[in-house]
Amino acid sequence: MSVQFIENKNLFILSCAKLSYAFYVDANRRLVHLHFGGKVFGEEGLIQQEIRKSHSSFSPWAAGEKPEDSVDALQLEFSGFNTGDFRVNSAAVQTCNGSRITDALYVSHRIYKGKKRLAGLPSAFAGDHDSVETLEITMRDTACELEFILSYSVFEECSTIVRSVKAVNGTASPLVLERLMSAQLDLPHTGFDFVQLSGSWTRERHPERTSLRSGIQAIRSVRGASGHQNSPAVALMAHDATEYSGDVYGAVLAYSGNFLIEVECEQYGTARLCAGINPENFSWRLAPGESFETPEVYLTYSGEGLGGMSRNLHDFMRRHLIRDGWAYRKRPLLVNSWEAAYFDFDSAKLLGIAESAARLGIEMLVLDDGWFGVRNDDTTSLGDWFVNTEKIGDLGELVRKINALGMKFGLWFEPEMISEKSELYRKHPEWVLHEPGRRRSIGREQMLLDMSRPEVVQYLFETISNILHSANIEYLKWDMNRNLTEVYSDVLPPERQGEVSHRYMLGVYRLHEMLLKEFPGLLIEGCSGGGGRFDAGMLGYVPQIWCSDDTDAMERILIQLGTSYFYPVSAIGAHVSVCPNHITGRITPFATRGDIALSGTFGYELDLTKLSEEEQALVRKQVADYHKYHHIIAGGDLYRLSDSFKVNAFDAWMYVSRDRREALITAVCRFCRPNDGVRFVRPRGLDPEMIYEVDGMQISGATLMSVGIQVRLNSDGASRIYYLKAL
Ligand code: GLA
Repeated sequence: MSVQFIENKNLFILSCAKLSYAFYVDANRRLVHLHFGGKVFGEEGLIQQEIRKSHSSFSPWAAGEKPEDSVDALQLEFSGFNTGDFRVNSAAVQTCNGSRITDALYVSHRIYKGKKRLAGLPSAFAGDHDSVETLEITMRDTACELEFILSYSVFEECSTIVRSVKAVNGTASPLVLERLMSAQLDLPHTGFDFVQLSGSWTRERHPERTSLRSGIQAIRSVRGASGHQNSPAVALMAHDATEYSGDVYGAVLAYSGNFLIEVECEQYGTARLCAGINPENFSWRLAPGESFETPEVYLTYSGEGLGGMSRNLHDFMRRHLIRDGWAYRKRPLLVNSWEAAYFDFDSAKLLGIAESAARLGIEMLVLDDGWFGVRNDDTTSLGDWFVNTEKIGDLGELVRKINALGMKFGLWFEPEMISEKSELYRKHPEWVLHEPGRRRSIGREQMLLDMSRPEVVQYLFETISNILHSANIEYLKWDMNRNLTEVYSDVLPPERQGEVSHRYMLGVYRLHEMLLKEFPGLLIEGCSGGGGRFDAGMLGYVPQIWCSDDTDAMERILIQLGTSYFYPVSAIGAHVSVCPNHITGRITPFATRGDIALSGTFGYELDLTKLSEEEQALVRKQVADYHKYHHIIAGGDLYRLSDSFKVNAFDAWMYVSRDRREALITAVCRFCRPNDGVRFVRPRGLDPEMIYEVDGMQISGATLMSVGIQVRLNSDGASRIYYLKAL
């Protein structure tokens, strides 16, 4: 049983393989947090005296209660607004008299097997045979019939708790949600480092680790997308925790729009984490009887350092978030036309690339931007999702020829966008996200469609479906090359304008759902100028996301390792591209580019017709490596072996199959240092008692993990992969 309710203590204990979570209902019906972290055994010792005593009139208490009951001083699972808890909080709701006072107390709970999906939002799922239980706690406001249903689904085997909140308006008047966070977690001290993944376009998800300090530390987005700048996920690491040891807490928000994850270190020495939709520029009007569900947050804990946290989350997302087993499935090994041809192609050129690809064992050609409308550069045609026959002739015929080579075919779309120079804009200028009478902001010569309008989503569904039905298209790359501005919808009344960004996201998710229903086998790759929308929300629909427009292998080390903190490697879009690299101008050996792209979905992003004999031989080897090692990389446990918080001269990481009989180590010398001594890579996660064959030697797991493997890499950008197999 993963959810226990101990009635005589009003105590809830949620148990996973490697973590416990406990809270109870106190005498005043508040949901008081007790523990989130390492496993507990039994219930004794969880509730000890008063959890906290407040000491001043500056932490007020409710009339009729005692000073030590001050909500400002309790650790709480859910906190309202304007009744004395002055920390960042879970909810603030405006009632019809204009009050923003929100104060909810425990009413009831229920426990059931499995987990419900959220309507219209990405959500984790549980199969019939998975050990998953859900606890739902109903809290009700003290002054009106506004309810908050807190949901905790316990994914026992993956040591992950899924939380979300549903607000239900049981009053007779409309209410306005001004803030409704998906989860609040009160940790008993502030001795943590805040770990975030930050950066910019072509430099996404670089890890940063900083000590928490008094006040609020936060990451957020108001871009209408999660953004290149901060990924909606944080880890809190005990100061002494490392990659391999110590307490680490992870919180990942499954949402792709405006988000906020904040941690407040408050006066009594605790840290409160809140994660959810960013309340900035957000409000949601709830009519009587209506409800609102927040996105989900995935909470995990590991006593085995950052690596342990990542492995919990990888397991969880691969099994319970990424649909249809795609996380483990081999994806067609692809070549993408973008860096090979940009806008300059015709069907002959595409067929040339496809022929070379087929000869080399590559399995799919993806036709990127430029195949539709009259698009020969990035100034026109977004929204006109019909084939540019002048450029590529009949799409069905082109695809048939590609299929005849034994290759699959994939196609690029940027559904949410519209160019001013487009037929769609001429027909529907009102579909653009804009405020009438105010000048618009442009990004890459394009504007956004108002995805909050159902007719826009329907138009996109129909036009994209027409194309997908017209040819054998097995993969779709869904791009988004700018962020939201002038967030205003012509069709919503003034009091609902705070809903536009979230409604936009719901429109995006809805279009995904409609397309997947119509084309169940379709593989969709997410993208937003590379990794500008790489988040768990998108992973609810797409099994892979193009990780960065920066395809430079050396740059990719940090980007991919950073991404792997929270997201499984099998979701990371990674390709071999040409050198000098188009973004950095750097030259890296072809073999190294392959070794690094192997830690992802793997593919090519270059003109295969221009490869030398030597490079073609390397492609053949890389293709063979992909097939040989895919199951270890996609399905195994990841161990980062170097300090992924910084740019190192030497980096290494590895994957171990779940039965520990196989492993793959990648080692890269970024900068060669002459006379740098002898270097050993020490693998992790092996079975100490198994004997592994590696590099012609037979060595026990114990010796390998203690002594390591000697690695000789003597030039800039050199790499090696080591395959370990148990005898
Ligand atoms: C974005 C993507 C690229 C490519 C271009 C096409 O930048 O990240 O991979 O698809 O758009 O315009």
